[in-house]
Amino acid sequence: MAAGLVAMQLYIVFILLSSLCQRLQGIEFEDLPDKDVHTGLLLQLLKRIRLERDYDTIVIYGPEPCVFHALLPQLELPTVLLTQGSSWEDWSFSSESLLLICSSDAEQERNTRTLLKLQPARRLVYLELEKQPTEVCQAYFEREQVNVAMVDSVGNLYSCRCFEQENYVQLAVNLSSSYPIYVEQFRNMRGSLIRSEPDQIGPRAMLYRDPSTGKYQMMGIAANLINTFVERVNATLKLRDDIGQGKKIYYKNIFQRVQLNLLDIAATLSSTLDMENYDYLSYPYIHSSFCFMIPMPSALEFKEIYAIIVQPLVAGVLIVLFLIFSLLYIYSEDLNWRRFSLINMLLNDRCLRGLLGHAFPMPAQPSRYLKGICMLICFASIMTTTMYESYLQAYFLRPPHEPMLRSFEDIFASRYKIALERGEASHILFKNFSLTTSNAHHAFILDDWTELLRLRDSFNASFIYPVTEIRWLSFKEQQKHFSKPVFYYSEDICMKRFLLLSLPVRRHLPYRQLFEQHILAMEEFGISKYWVTSTFHEMVRLKLTSFKDYSHPDSYEEEIFLRDLTQIFIFYLAAHLLACICFAIECGWSKIFGIK
Ligand SMILES: *[C@@H]1O[C@H](CO)[C@@H](O)[C@H](O)[C@H]1NC(C)=O
Ligand SMILES: *[C@@H]1O[C@H](CO)[C@@H](O)[C@H](O)[C@H]1NC(C)=O
Ligand SMILES: *[C@@H]1O[C@H](CO)[C@@H](O)[C@H](O)[C@H]1NC(C)=O
Ligand SMILES: *[C@@H]1O[C@H](CO)[C@@H](O)[C@H](O)[C@H]1NC(C)=O
Repeated sequence: MAAGLVAMQLYIVFILLSSLCQRLQGIEFEDLPDKDVHTGLLLQLLKRIRLERDYDTIVIYGPEPCVFHALLPQLELPTVLLTQGSSWEDWSFSSESLLLICSSDAEQERNTRTLLKLQPARRLVYLELEKQPTEVCQAYFEREQVNVAMVDSVGNLYSCRCFEQENYVQLAVNLSSSYPIYVEQFRNMRGSLIRSEPDQIGPRAMLYRDPSTGKYQMMGIAANLINTFVERVNATLKLRDDIGQGKKIYYKNIFQRVQLNLLDIAATLSSTLDMENYDYLSYPYIHSSFCFMIPMPSALEFKEIYAIIVQPLVAGVLIVLFLIFSLLYIYSEDLNWRRFSLINMLLNDRCLRGLLGHAFPMPAQPSRYLKGICMLICFASIMTTTMYESYLQAYFLRPPHEPMLRSFEDIFASRYKIALERGEASHILFKNFSLTTSNAHHAFILDDWTELLRLRDSFNASFIYPVTEIRWLSFKEQQKHFSKPVFYYSEDICMKRFLLLSLPVRRHLPYRQLFEQHILAMEEFGISKYWVTSTFHEMVRLKLTSFKDYSHPDSYEEEIFLRDLTQIFIFYLAAHLLACICFAIECGWSKIFGIK
């Protein structure tokens, strides 16, 4: 049924030839078979239009007997005929199409997506005798189609101009005239308004009052793009009248205002994540990842340092070394195993003292083997004691940090909570990352998104926050003014590793292409990158933020207190107790068994 309708509505002729351009360039007036001056004039006009900017497809709006149909054999280009004045299907017309319109009201395009695609295309309207070009231009401007020219049966050529005194100009149709038929009208908007609104979330778009003029202005990564565009096309920026400084606007609300055509370009960044189509988004402006900022791992306490410098593997190696030295010592005393006993090997006091760097009595007249073994013990003792000494001193000077969090499991095992706004939590986190009831207490859900921003902006280190890399870069810039960094950006724990950020724009923004060219130009010159890093300092300059140190530097951490040594004292006491018990047992043993 639908297919039948489409077939009825559309009668499509595709004529593809390999040498299209050559053939068209080759058409000369004299070659025309017909003496029909009118057709000749139109062909000349089409050729002139093509010289201005090439077109690759012809779309004809209007019922069959119409002046343009007669030209088709000479044009030899792929052609789409829309006899009912509208396309039902969502056609992917190229922007390099030429629209030929049989009469001033022949084009009744209702398909908004087709309209969007045909917005940059050029239109040539065949004007009826009684029609005024002013009316036609006006009608097209109302539909935000601005690339319109008209030709009437007498051969007068008019072209619409939206920013000039009169809304059209009359042109001479001839190849030698250099005056362009179609011009990029929005290159100079002559002070027309571009409506925008900052979301007031740094560093994307902030509002401030210009001290020299007293007027509100905006700045920020997204806002600068709009400001420079406004300047480039000689337009005027229009912010809403009741705008209030410091009033953050949720991006969904601002997006809604764009959808309702209340704003032309919104000064905010919107991701392509949950969009069905990109009609309301500009070309991607910047890309970013969307990960977490995590509090810097804290330094270990001094009392833990004693424990961590004794690594089990190293301690094991030292014990093995001790046993080997004991065996060697016992053997080399008499060069036989007569003195060997288990107790002598495990508790060889000379070896023990030697390895701990203490003095021990050498036997009288030691053999050269024994001397060699003692040398080895001395050497090993110097190595181990200096190693532990330097470890301890270095760690006391600058205590090592706890390990960084590298996965969600690490977060769930840590003392931190993930701060999230309620909508975002259900949307992103619960869907992706098995945040079950057992670890739900690791999420800190906030109903008020501004509260989340407030916590994050004040570097409250009790939480882990989701953040885009773009935002993080300005936090990083801010942290440079702290006595020590408070957060780090985790590249490992991400919600999206690659995110495209665009500016929301009105659907039928007539200067969308110009704006997108502007985005690319800013990117090409590296100005966007510069804005990303410099915005924080700009914000400080405009007194929108300050160099406050949120890192809570606490000085007492630098000192060692007696309580830091408790563990060592306990260990010391325990060892003494053990020694006393051993001594007591030894005394008792000799009493009972009379062994000397
Ligand atoms: C073309 O137009 C120019 C002025 O626009 C005019 O001087 C010239 O005579 C015209 N040539 C022809 C062949 O009509
Ligand atoms: C910019 O627009 C103003 C009107 O607001 C106009 O007077 C001026 O000539 C325009 N500038 C350029 C370079 O055309
Ligand atoms: C999150 O989920 C999406 C699809 O649901 C998946 O493509 C992506 O890899 C997931 N991210 C992580 C970090 O698991
Ligand atoms: C961080 O936020 C929590 C919860 O709002 C609050 O209890 C705590 O005092 C804050 N910490 C700092 C250092 O401000």
